Amino acid sequence: MLLNDLTTRALGVLAGLTPSRETGTSLQPRAPIPLDDYIKYETPYALQGILNNIGDKGSQVPGASEGVVVASPSTENPNYFYTWTRDSALTFKYLISTYIGGNDTLEGLIHNYTSAQAKLQVLSTPSGDLSTGGLGEPKFYTNLTAFEGSWGRPQRDGPALRATTLIAYANHLVSSDQKDVAKDILWPIIQNDLTYVTNYWNETGFDLWEEVNGSSIFTTAMQQRALVEGSDFAAAIGESCPHCDAEAPQIACFLESYWWGDRSISNQNVKTDNYTRAGNDCSSILTSIHLFDAKAKCDDPGYQPCQGKALANHKAVVDSMRKSYPINEATEATEQGKPAPVGRYPEDDYYGGNPWFLCTSAAAEQLYKAIYQWDATGSVVVHQVSQAFFNDLLPGIKVGTYEKSSETFKQVTDAVKVYADGFADLVQAHEHQNGSLSEQFSQENGTAISARDLTWSYAAFNTMAMARAGGKALDRETWGSTKVKAPDVCKRESATGTYVTPTATIFPSSSSNAGSATTTGTAASGSPSSGAGARPRPFKLWL
Ligand code: NOJ
Ligand code: NOJ
Repeated sequence: MLLNDLTTRALGVLAGLTPSRETGTSLQPRAPIPLDDYIKYETPYALQGILNNIGDKGSQVPGASEGVVVASPSTENPNYFYTWTRDSALTFKYLISTYIGGNDTLEGLIHNYTSAQAKLQVLSTPSGDLSTGGLGEPKFYTNLTAFEGSWGRPQRDGPALRATTLIAYANHLVSSDQKDVAKDILWPIIQNDLTYVTNYWNETGFDLWEEVNGSSIFTTAMQQRALVEGSDFAAAIGESCPHCDAEAPQIACFLESYWWGDRSISNQNVKTDNYTRAGNDCSSILTSIHLFDAKAKCDDPGYQPCQGKALANHKAVVDSMRKSYPINEATEATEQGKPAPVGRYPEDDYYGGNPWFLCTSAAAEQLYKAIYQWDATGSVVVHQVSQAFFNDLLPGIKVGTYEKSSETFKQVTDAVKVYADGFADLVQAHEHQNGSLSEQFSQENGTAISARDLTWSYAAFNTMAMARAGGKALDRETWGSTKVKAPDVCKRESATGTYVTPTATIFPSSSSNAGSATTTGTAASGSPSSGAGARPRPFKLWL
């Protein structure tokens, strides 16, 4: 770390100025500035990094259509200049939460995203068309046409994630007296995705890493969530989703089958015979953070962040990679209970198999969300299964329930917070010096590698920061998880529903006091958060 750089950044943070990008600087990891300051610095940068990658105004993605989220501006090694349904939905899940938290400028983009998804839904693709499986098509050209090349398809998490994302916006419309807009524009698109989920949840597909054809915990979990909140949303607009009601409990049942008891939850592909991995996978941590429900209890089924199995899994996944990366050797990351870089899974060899920014952020996010849940439920529960997780942080801690008023509650939550902050600090330590986040950082020397300015890395950082801040943004994250009851006897079945061509995609002019987001910032070549001539934006976490 160059001291000058650190000083410039720190002064910029103090002055409320966004940092300027330096070009041609070394990619070496550098010493951290305090995490609070770093988050203030990085959050607006990451938001701008996202906006830069969304068409048709994003400065980094010329040619991308309106509302299209490009995975990364990188066109070779790897070529990520496509739009993935998963990456886009997760990005807008974050943007919508930010919009609801008060960043009105994002409304136009949310509308554009919605319209773009309506167009993608009706394309004829190698996975099928609207009513024959096409919604499972994983990625498209950025001008909203089908990608016909060979690929790991279908990927069945996409429609579920898109439903969850659009439902968040639709629920907001309902609660802002715009039920008609929610019903006319959002419902047809959401309904298609829900129908897809009820049709195909019981069939194999490629996992979120696009590699293994089988059943993935992440996919199953996201499908369950979509059906539960989909049914509630339907009721809120005077519609219904009986096929959602029929399948959600069955999916809940299937979700439990990923638990490997003394090993970990994992994305083992249960219908695949030749599964050779140990099963530890960051997708299970992503499962917890995206299943998070502010009203859930730590004893609920379903891998909520504070649930015993989910914390045991957090430990298993992080521990499984401690010895995988040479950069850990000179650090405390090889020791259990110390923050460590997290990759997709230890056997990974994509670009040599490195830590990923989005997985390292997710490891922090799960813990921040667990802290929220302990606070909300009034106690920390140390389950038998998660005792080892807690023991790493507070040696000797016993299985039990520690009320908020107790000293142990404070010790646990403090220790978990420190542990979580350590993961966030690792993001800082390995980002490109100007604040940009790529997909991975090298296991050999820690430098940022693979796709640059990965949209999902930015979204993952900012949802992690929101989870750390807690408060209203998390209070609002509730989707009915507590209502899910798995039946005694599980059935692997499917149900049919309706597919309709979404026709109404033009939103009435501004539904609230919205402005329009600037997508002209130049995070890759100039000052990240201020487009040419724009005033520097004050730092603000939209809660
Ligand atoms: C293999 C990678 O592991 C996977 O995640 C990626 O999407 C595909 N190759 C295509 O680049
Ligand atoms: C590869 C990742 O494995 C996959 O999850 C992602 O959708 C694509 N890259 C695009 O970012």
